[in-house]
Amino acid sequence: MALSTLDRPAELQRFRQARARSRALFSLLTDEAYYARPIALRNPVVFYEGHLPAFAVNTLLKRGLGEPGIDAHLETIFARGIDPDDEANAIARGNPAWPSREVVRQYCDEADRRLQAAILEAPIERPDHPLLAEAQALRAVLEHEEMHQETLAYIWHQAPYAWKRKPEHYVTAPPRLRETPPAPGAIEIPGGTVTLGTPDAEPFAWDNERPAHRVPVEAFRMDRYKVTNAAFREFIEAGGYRDARWWRAEDWAWIVAERVTCPPFWTPTDDGSDWRIRGLFEEVPFQPSWPVYATWAEAHAYARFRGQRLQTEAEFHRAAYGTPDGHERRYPWGDELPHRAPANFDFLRWDPEPVDARPAAASAWGVEGLVGNGWEWTADVFAPFAGFTPLPSYPEYSAEFFDGEHYVMKGASPVTPRALVRPGFRNWFRPRYPYVYATFRCVTSA
Ligand code: AVJ
Ligand code: FE
Repeated sequence: MALSTLDRPAELQRFRQARARSRALFSLLTDEAYYARPIALRNPVVFYEGHLPAFAVNTLLKRGLGEPGIDAHLETIFARGIDPDDEANAIARGNPAWPSREVVRQYCDEADRRLQAAILEAPIERPDHPLLAEAQALRAVLEHEEMHQETLAYIWHQAPYAWKRKPEHYVTAPPRLRETPPAPGAIEIPGGTVTLGTPDAEPFAWDNERPAHRVPVEAFRMDRYKVTNAAFREFIEAGGYRDARWWRAEDWAWIVAERVTCPPFWTPTDDGSDWRIRGLFEEVPFQPSWPVYATWAEAHAYARFRGQRLQTEAEFHRAAYGTPDGHERRYPWGDELPHRAPANFDFLRWDPEPVDARPAAASAWGVEGLVGNGWEWTADVFAPFAGFTPLPSYPEYSAEFFDGEHYVMKGASPVTPRALVRPGFRNWFRPRYPYVYATFRCVTSA
C-alpha cells in the first residue's frame, strides 16, 4: 500500500484558503441577492453558502469518520443541488423555506471548526477504509469546494450588476495595443498516443478520470487560437442563426423556440448595429480578441459553417500535452505550475483576455490558450471510461450524468482554481446550457 501522503498542515492550509476564497465570492454580492436565483435552473445563493459546509460535514465527518452531524435538517436541504434539466424540475424538486443568513453563517462557522479539527487530528487517512484511503473524502471535499467557486462565479454573472461589488482594482477590459484579433491559422499535429484520465499514482482523481488509459490519435490540424468574438461575428453576419443547415435538429429547435440570435454573453446595442459583452461586473464594448463564450450547440454549428469540426477529448490531450518526443507534459507550457498561473485561470481575472495574450503558455506544437481563458468544448459525450467505478465518498458525482446529454469540456476558465488544473480533469455540461465559461476551437482531419 502507498505510504502516507497526508501532510496535515498543508491540507489545513488548502482548506482555509479555499474557505476564504468562497467567503470572498459571497461578499461580492449584496444582501438583496441572498434568496434570489440569478439562474432560474439553479438554487438560490443561500443554498450555495450552506451547501459547501454541509457537503463537507456529510462526506468527511458523517460518511467518512462516522461522527455525528451538526444539524440534520440543514444537512438535508443543503446536501445536493445541481443541474436540473428544466425550470419545472428545479421548482418541483422542492423549495424549502431557506434559513436566515444568521443560521447559515453559524452553521458555516461550526462546520469549519469541526473540519479543521478533523484535518489536524482525526483518522482521515486509513488504507483499510474505502472513503479514507489516501484521504479520499477530504480531497473530495476540497475539490468540491474549489469546483463550486466556479459555479458561484458563473451564477453571480447572471445577477443584476446592482447586486455586485466590483473588486477595487479590477479592470474588465484593459485597453490593448492591438485591437484586431490575431490572424487565424491552423497547426499540423502529428498522430500519436495520449493518456486520458489520471494515473493511479496520483493520490486523488474523480471517478470519471479513472482508469487512466492510452488511446491513439490520428494526425489533425488544429486552430492556433480559440475562436474569437470577431470570428464568431462573421458567422452571425453570414446568417448563421437563421440557417438550419449548420445546426443539429434539437439545437435548431432551441434556436427557433428561444429566438436565439447571438451567443449568451453578448447583448445587442440599442440600434442593433453592434454588440456589447456582459462581463461579470459590467458590460463592456465588443471585444474582438476575446474568445467567444458559447454553448456546445453554437460551437458545433460554427465549426460546421467553417467546414471544420470540434476537437475530440483525445485531440485536446494530444495538442495540449503531447510533444514530438512522445513524452506527455503535465501542462501545455511544460511540467511545472508556477505560483502565479501562467495563463488566465486560478482567478487571475474574472473575464477572458485576448486569445493571443499568452504565447509563453503555448503547447509543444505552438497551440495557444488550451488551458485557461475558458473551458474548451469537445465533440465527446461525457461517458465513463472502461472499468469505471463510482467514487466511494461521492458515488453520485459522475454516474448521474452518463445520460448522453452532456459533453466533455477540458482546460480551465478564468475562475478555475489551480488545484483542478490537471490533465485528467474532465468537466461536463449540457449542450445548450448557456451560463458556463465555455470556449472552443476547431480542427480538421489531416
Ligand atoms: C463537474 C462542474 C459539472 O457543478 O454540476 C458540484 C460539479 N458536482 N457539486 C456541477 C459538482 C457536485 C459539477 N460539474
Ligand atoms: Fe455540489
